[in-house]
Amino acid sequence: MKHIGVLTSGGDSPGMNACIRAVVRTGLDLGMEVTGIRRGYAGLIAGEMEPMDARSVGGIIQRAGTILQTSRCEEFKTLAGRREALRKLNEYGIEGLVVIGGDGSLRGALELHRMGFPTIGVPASIDNDIWGTDMAIGTDTALNTALDAIDKIKETASSHGRAFLVEVMGRNRGYLALMTGIAGGAEVVLIPEKEMPLERVAEILEQAYIKGKAHALVVIAEGAKYKTSEVAAYLQREEVGFEVRTTILGHVQRGGAPSAFDRLLATRMGVAAVQQLAQGASGVMVGLVGNRIETIGLEEVTKRSKGLDLAFYDMAEVLAK
Ligand code: ADP
Ligand code: F6P
Repeated sequence: MKHIGVLTSGGDSPGMNACIRAVVRTGLDLGMEVTGIRRGYAGLIAGEMEPMDARSVGGIIQRAGTILQTSRCEEFKTLAGRREALRKLNEYGIEGLVVIGGDGSLRGALELHRMGFPTIGVPASIDNDIWGTDMAIGTDTALNTALDAIDKIKETASSHGRAFLVEVMGRNRGYLALMTGIAGGAEVVLIPEKEMPLERVAEILEQAYIKGKAHALVVIAEGAKYKTSEVAAYLQREEVGFEVRTTILGHVQRGGAPSAFDRLLATRMGVAAVQQLAQGASGVMVGLVGNRIETIGLEEVTKRSKGLDLAFYDMAEVLAK
């Protein structure tokens, strides 16, 4: 293979740049031409191509976001859109593609593979919701960002004797919320995978107040059953002892310098993705299994749903005593 392309797609996650850098420099080292495709599948269809050299990925390993930019592209979900994308890849002489993105982007990568185009997926998402990899690129940094915020919030919370509701990202998944809750010492964690009635939340906070805790912390996943504002209103009405305040972390969790873990993971995955293309593989994702980078079929990745290990939920409850 003489010429490969690389794109980032879907929600950006810290470490995508480190992965782009690894793809470009590994490709060049193997004697390949490397083209960066801007704005994900939208830029692919529009032919937004940029030749990459070693210097074009200099100074980016410590930056979140993606220098290639990203997009969500409805047109690519249609056969006509994907046909246009293939035309562009052929027009530019690109023979293989590395797609860095979340589960949606990996579905797109699988479709390109099914149409006969050599494609390798790299899992990148702060939600850590992708089957076939223990960790996705960006999750560790997002966790650290949420923890940093929580450590700060706890200082003001205990000064005032308040309960804080902290909403973290995770549209459909509670991984970020649960791990943030455990590492941040939350009294309660609310996640989509495990329902807790609001009466129980109020009871736990009231108990924390009676025990003499200086503050209380409730971590809520964006996708939990009760909206954060509902939880806040309920707790205020129930008068649990603590005054209640709310912080929504939102997209802050997608920024910030990628952690050492994410830079290394992204780098290892980027290198492995290009090696896979060079060996003639297609339709696979590179994933972290234990401490090894392995490949797994995109068919399986997109068919299976990564559940949350609820033993961690039980652990969070025990440790909140
Ligand atoms: P993420 O990759 O972060 O999960 P999305 O779910 O929005 O983000 O997916 C990113 C893009 O991947 C979509 O905008 C679309 O272009 C492409 N995509 C998602 N699902 C499919 C699919 N089933 N077939 C083809 N392309 C898809
Ligand atoms: O999938 C990553 C994620 O950050 C989710 O946690 C969040 O729900 C969603 O993307 C937000 O998407 P957008 O950036 O399009 O608002």
